[in-house]
Amino acid sequence: MLVATCVLSIIFLLESCSGDRFSHLFSEDVSNISFPDDFLWGYASAAYQVEGGWDADGKSESVWDYDAHNHPDWFPEGQNGDVACDAYHKTDVDIALLKYQGVKAYRFSIAWPRVLPTGRIDDINEKGIQYYQDLISKLKANNIEPIVTMHHWDHPRVIEEQGGFLNESLIIPAFLEYATLLWERFGDDVKWWTTFNEPKQTCGGGYDYGSVSPNRQDPGRGGYICAHNLLRAHAKAYKIYNEQFRAKQNGKVSLVMDTSWYEPASDDPKDIEAAQRKNLFNYGWFAHPVVYGDYPEVMRERIAERSRLQNLSESRLPSFTEEEKAELKGSYDFLTINMYSTELAKWRDDEPAGEPSIYDDTSVTTYQPDDWEKTITSWFKVVPWGARREVVWIRDNYGDDKGILVTENGYHDDGNNMTDLGTRGRYHKLYLSNINDAIYKDGVNVIGYMAWSLMNDVEWYSGWQINLGHYHVDFYSDERTRTPKESAGYYRKVVTTNCLVDDCEAPPKR
Ligand SMILES: *[C@@H]1O[C@H](CO)[C@@H](O)[C@H](O)[C@H]1NC(C)=O
Ligand SMILES: *[C@@H]1O[C@H](CO)[C@@H](O)[C@H](O)[C@H]1NC(C)=O
Ligand SMILES: *[C@@H]1O[C@H](CO)[C@@H](O)[C@H](O)[C@H]1NC(C)=O
Ligand SMILES: *[C@@H]1O[C@H](CO)[C@@H](O)[C@H](O)[C@H]1NC(C)=O
Repeated sequence: MLVATCVLSIIFLLESCSGDRFSHLFSEDVSNISFPDDFLWGYASAAYQVEGGWDADGKSESVWDYDAHNHPDWFPEGQNGDVACDAYHKTDVDIALLKYQGVKAYRFSIAWPRVLPTGRIDDINEKGIQYYQDLISKLKANNIEPIVTMHHWDHPRVIEEQGGFLNESLIIPAFLEYATLLWERFGDDVKWWTTFNEPKQTCGGGYDYGSVSPNRQDPGRGGYICAHNLLRAHAKAYKIYNEQFRAKQNGKVSLVMDTSWYEPASDDPKDIEAAQRKNLFNYGWFAHPVVYGDYPEVMRERIAERSRLQNLSESRLPSFTEEEKAELKGSYDFLTINMYSTELAKWRDDEPAGEPSIYDDTSVTTYQPDDWEKTITSWFKVVPWGARREVVWIRDNYGDDKGILVTENGYHDDGNNMTDLGTRGRYHKLYLSNINDAIYKDGVNVIGYMAWSLMNDVEWYSGWQINLGHYHVDFYSDERTRTPKESAGYYRKVVTTNCLVDDCEAPPKR
């Protein structure tokens, strides 16, 4: 039916076929080549989403706790991180699940206000340190590699009250104290570190257009200032690791970047240019500085030009000093990608200079064809082939000699479907098949995959209305009982056999 419509419309109007141009890419074929033996299989999580214990044992309020307590209407009724999955009291339960699932790695984050309630080094909360030390020791005792995120959006509210990521004279030294403490206390045991999770969301959602805490809005400015401070904090932390810890701890440090994949909507060179620009404004905003030492040229030029048209005396995109560029360049030991969906990108003519916004600075129209498979979330359609193109693009633009780790991927529904093999199970299978193709057909050095998530959790302002877990969590019982869904069984099979189907071929010799 769809094909016939499109054949007809090709004759008259190619544009309306834009969804169908891609239909041949939606294949249910699954690779039967084993993943590499050393492929790092894991699960990912974040402190606010699972821990609970929001004020336990000396922890102070994070920006998310503050929102839950002061803007309860921003969350579905009562669905916040105060108790969440109660992971703070369930370390043994969760380690047993991770062990049963057979994963080699667990990516989790440390809650800054749990270890440093004032945000600064003057007050170390030893009980908070002890919680993470216990988690890390038990992971290691079970041969599960800890992959630790230092900041997954939940900095102390007291830091935010003094300007948060917009205050460079606060956030940079405070983060460096915090990072140094974590390396001092945990660096002998933890070999995989990321400084910040999804800075595009921290800064865009947190300080520019709103959508994540602290949910401040200063379009076209706040996001760039936050990112500038965050990137400088990252680079200086990386330098501290090199100078003080690397020789004896020998770990890896990076930051976690996220983006949807933006595919040109047509062969028109303008759409191809638009897609590249959108990918650079999203992934490149952070990857370019840590790989090459500065923002992508297209960002620097466009934001400077639009600022000039807005009669501003300087660009809304701050610039790095030569010393900062040198610190940033190469400040990563592996590349990262939180992937989920794909959108099509079309050229959009510049708007006349009006109110600043990242959207107008980028000036690309993006959309998803109606006939692409939906999930519960409006922006999130199931596009497995985007995963392959995305990691190929990362390799082509930023290199893969240090490896690319998929730090998150997962499927959205309401969290309650226990027979989710055909939805969530199939989602991971098809995305992983495309990643397998990227490895063996395109030669991309993808080193591991962290499924989001082991269990249902608090999906920020969505509470538990949206969920991605392989285990259901009964948020209405005191035990927060975890129950496996069908997807847990499938993922367990994959990580314990390195194989997506019943029977696999050995990988070609590398
Ligand atoms: C920024 O941080 C500094 C150092 O902590 C503090 O003295 C100053 O008041 C903060 N600025 C704002 C605007 O809160
Ligand atoms: C910039 O200044 C020029 C000259 O004064 C004026 O015509 C124009 O409207 C201004 N543009 C904006 C966006 O304020
Ligand atoms: C649960 O997932 C299955 C696929 O595994 C799907 O067929 C079914 O419609 C889903 N149930 C609900 C209630 O969404
Ligand atoms: C893997 O797939 C290929 C191509 O479809 C097929 O020839 C081969 O027999 C399969 N191998 C196994 C072990 O099933």
